[in-house]
Amino acid sequence: MAADIQAIVDRYDGDKGQLVSILQDIQAEDRYLPKEALEEASRIMDVPLSQVYSVATFFRAFSLTPRGRHLIRVCLGTACHVRGAARVLEKMELDLGIKREETTDDLRFTLETVNCVGCCALGPMVIIDDKYHGQLGSDKVSPLLEKYE
Ligand code: FES
Repeated sequence: MAADIQAIVDRYDGDKGQLVSILQDIQAEDRYLPKEALEEASRIMDVPLSQVYSVATFFRAFSLTPRGRHLIRVCLGTACHVRGAARVLEKMELDLGIKREETTDDLRFTLETVNCVGCCALGPMVIIDDKYHGQLGSDKVSPLLEKYE
């Protein structure tokens, strides 16, 4: 756990109504919500741990398990699908040795799928962190992944 929970809570004056924002800030620093961070936030804010967990598990954007340094999102929307997105995803899974929604053991990558990111004409579309990679055939997957540490 790298995040300074006390500093983050102080940023919001310990306002219990800002719990979602506080969890967002913790996740921004740690890339997920470590158990110890949730316990500390609960203690500092005097909010029951069960309540902290119910917020942390309600929003899909929050993760309770470690996330990779790089987030890969493979678009499986209709337009990308007809252009071979399933093969791109298969190649990603093969290269990384994980399935979708999983993270590599070395915490290098987390692999997710999405349904349309608004660039259908450029499919198959893959987004790594905030960078869009269009017309990404399965043959381009390995060279692309090699660019990320
Ligand atoms: S279906 Fe993939 S970008 Fe629209």
